[in-house]
Amino acid sequence: MHINATKTMTIVLGLLILCGTAGAVRIIAGPYLQEPSDTSMTVMWITDQNSTSWVEYGPDDSLDRKAYRTRHGLIDAGRTIHKVKIQGLTPGTSYRYRVRSKEIVNFDPYDVTFGDTVASETFAFTTLSRAKKAFSFVVLNDIHEKNEILTSLAKRAEGKPYDLLFLNGDMLGHIENQQQIIDHVLAPCTELFASRTPFIYVRGNHEARGRFARNLPDYIALPQDRFYYAFRHGPVRFIVLDGGEDKHDSEEVYAGLIDFDRYRDAQRQWLMQEIQSDAFKQAPFRVVVVHMPPMPSERWHGTNDMYNKWRPVLNQGKVDLLICGHTHHYEIAGPEEGVRDFPMVIGGAPNPGAATLIRVDVTATMLDLTMTRDDGKIVGTYCIRK
Ligand SMILES: [Fe+2]
Repeated sequence: MHINATKTMTIVLGLLILCGTAGAVRIIAGPYLQEPSDTSMTVMWITDQNSTSWVEYGPDDSLDRKAYRTRHGLIDAGRTIHKVKIQGLTPGTSYRYRVRSKEIVNFDPYDVTFGDTVASETFAFTTLSRAKKAFSFVVLNDIHEKNEILTSLAKRAEGKPYDLLFLNGDMLGHIENQQQIIDHVLAPCTELFASRTPFIYVRGNHEARGRFARNLPDYIALPQDRFYYAFRHGPVRFIVLDGGEDKHDSEEVYAGLIDFDRYRDAQRQWLMQEIQSDAFKQAPFRVVVVHMPPMPSERWHGTNDMYNKWRPVLNQGKVDLLICGHTHHYEIAGPEEGVRDFPMVIGGAPNPGAATLIRVDVTATMLDLTMTRDDGKIVGTYCIRK
């Protein structure tokens, strides 16, 4: 009896200590908005303790609706990364939301013990809408972990409202762990805009590097779990592509662990289907966002492969605009008929005086692009009228 009492005391004390930790459950990143569409929005956040989580939301102040993630009939639980897709929303409508995580301190088969619940502040987002007549989007690229540049450009973007922000690759130098993704992408983006405005993380070649590169999709939401896809907002059909690495798959530095030639082939096949789709054909404008520019090169296999595999399809599809980064030299190149039938805009980076903010103001008949350097100087404009 005495031994049992001691054991019980130890368990109770252990639980008290655990519950003490439970009280400390914190949101360490987010909430940040992902994968916007006209009828859904994905909300993501990270906690420091294993939790089960949900989003409370509503089109008014009540927050009386609840969304959570289930997979295979099981509600997400015992996780620190939370990804909740709110579905069944109305296009072009604003919703208020807050997230909640309830810590799970003990997760035995027949005995689950919950700890405290943490809640975020209340924020608002607006769903996309193909009926929207005018909107703006902005593009940042090649920040390479320079938070002060990210902050400076994002604050510059705040001057006028925008609906979408593209992070066009190489936000990170290579990916080693979760903390790096939080420190250089999720935390600054959340602080600056991402609880209210979704960002679209276009993968750059540097995000394919490092021991944690394969974990990046856990931290963002991707349509059909792919880095290449299309979606519509207002008059624009956006095409997001992933150029992969800049060198040959067989290069020694990749240690035989990449397979981008076949990946770019798969994207070519997908692109050929996409340009035949009604969604593509019916959009007044088609804008392609990809990190590396498709360019002929003897030295850089990746850009050369994109040039050979994708450029003919993009020409055939009569895309209106291609937005890239990667070269660290900002540039606006007009169309070259029969070669590249569309303009190519390359954002600069990553140092002060070289980094750029690309802003596109869209109406039913016009794409009006402005490229502004981090020091405020406008270094390029381009206007496409229909
Ligand atoms: Fe790059």
